[in-house]
Amino acid sequence: MTSEAQVYVSDLSQHEGETVTMRGWLHNRRSSGKLQFLVFRDGSGFMQAVVSKADLPEEAWERTRALTQESSIELEGTVRKDARAPGGFELTVSDVKVFQIAEDYPITPKEHGVNFLLDNRHLWLRSKRQHAILRIRNEVIMSARRYLDDQGFIGCDTPIFTPNACEGTTTLFETKYFDQRAFLTQSGQLYNEAIAMAVGKTYSFGPTFRAEKSKTRRHLIEFWMIEPEVAYHELDDTIALAENLICAIIESVLERRRPELDVLERDVSKLESVKKPFHRTTYDEAAEKLEEKGTDFVPGSDFGAQDETVLAEELDRPLVVTHYPTDIKAFYMQPDAERPDRALCVDILAPEGYGEIVGGGQRIHDPELLEQRLKDHDLPRDAFQWYLDLRRYGSVPHAGFGMGIERFISWICKLEHLREAIPFPRMLYRLSP
Ligand code: 4AD
Ligand code: MG
Repeated sequence: MTSEAQVYVSDLSQHEGETVTMRGWLHNRRSSGKLQFLVFRDGSGFMQAVVSKADLPEEAWERTRALTQESSIELEGTVRKDARAPGGFELTVSDVKVFQIAEDYPITPKEHGVNFLLDNRHLWLRSKRQHAILRIRNEVIMSARRYLDDQGFIGCDTPIFTPNACEGTTTLFETKYFDQRAFLTQSGQLYNEAIAMAVGKTYSFGPTFRAEKSKTRRHLIEFWMIEPEVAYHELDDTIALAENLICAIIESVLERRRPELDVLERDVSKLESVKKPFHRTTYDEAAEKLEEKGTDFVPGSDFGAQDETVLAEELDRPLVVTHYPTDIKAFYMQPDAERPDRALCVDILAPEGYGEIVGGGQRIHDPELLEQRLKDHDLPRDAFQWYLDLRRYGSVPHAGFGMGIERFISWICKLEHLREAIPFPRMLYRLSP
């Protein structure tokens, strides 16, 4: 089949008045006597196609009447401008070909429970809402890459099999690696640090895995992270980079994905108000605030989802929290010189109750201190020899962060749960489809 003449819904404005061929699926339909209104989708968008009995051969009319939801079809017709049509154009159909009449489609326009939809995730992706989220996800990824590329970052990929625990040993997925054991990566960071010493500014974008036993709307077992890492950056530099990156992505989504935000009924004024500088606080100040508000926060511990919500929910822009207690953070965190029990680390909390979207900070660059921390955290020195090398050969202060893109997308799209932010979510009790 040749597709040279195929026109997509997204390009209709360039074909006004022309007779075109379109290929896609029947999303929905409505008939009224000698007229049929087809909601047609082709992946690039949704469009109304009007089929009038008078305008096409009898067999084509009969074929159209037999179409079921999600049948795959080819339409020939004339593109008409119509201010009332979603997208501004519709098709007056002159012929209809059928590739396949779909069997009874399980997802009908009525309401379905979320478990049913998740069981049918492979089909659920065809809905208008999921289509909009997928496009915004793509925009988030592409604009993040574009921004970092424009700033001179080299995008590099880090391994998925690794002998190193980056984010603690409690959430590791262990797997056999021939006669060794390996873990699925929790973060590309350690490798990014090596690459930053080679190219200065780098970032990775890849899947990361956490065997989190927590079943919350903010946790996935497999999620994707954008992780920049820069040689000679210190805490404030990495915060500035994170602010710039977040603002650049939001600007891009607002500029290019407005129709999708409309499908999701997103209040865009909430996104438009996200500007630099973000709100800023330290862990200690935030802890005080939580105690004032009377949450069940335990002083000295990490913030829970509820605490993060309380801290940032009402804000017009994200909240940058720095200087968490060193002993509740990962082994690689550089302690504050003036107060070594506080780390030069940063979490960025999104407004509207979305919690932590960024985690990062400055890394230990002193070899002795790093060795000590590996011991304190009971991490195997052998597996970290290569990482210690980075502190032996031209060690420099450096910093970076990870942005979980499903968390980010959930906030941008105002999703109730992370599961809709990724095509096929892996969750505590869900491995399929
Ligand atoms: O705060 P985390 O654990 O930081 C790191 O992994 C660092 N090594 C990153 C770095 O400095 N290069 O994770 C970073 C971000 C979090 O802020 C959150 O957005 C997301 O990853 N994240 C998750 N997203 C979905 N499901 C989970 N289970 C997540 N855990 C973390
Ligand atoms: Mg974190």
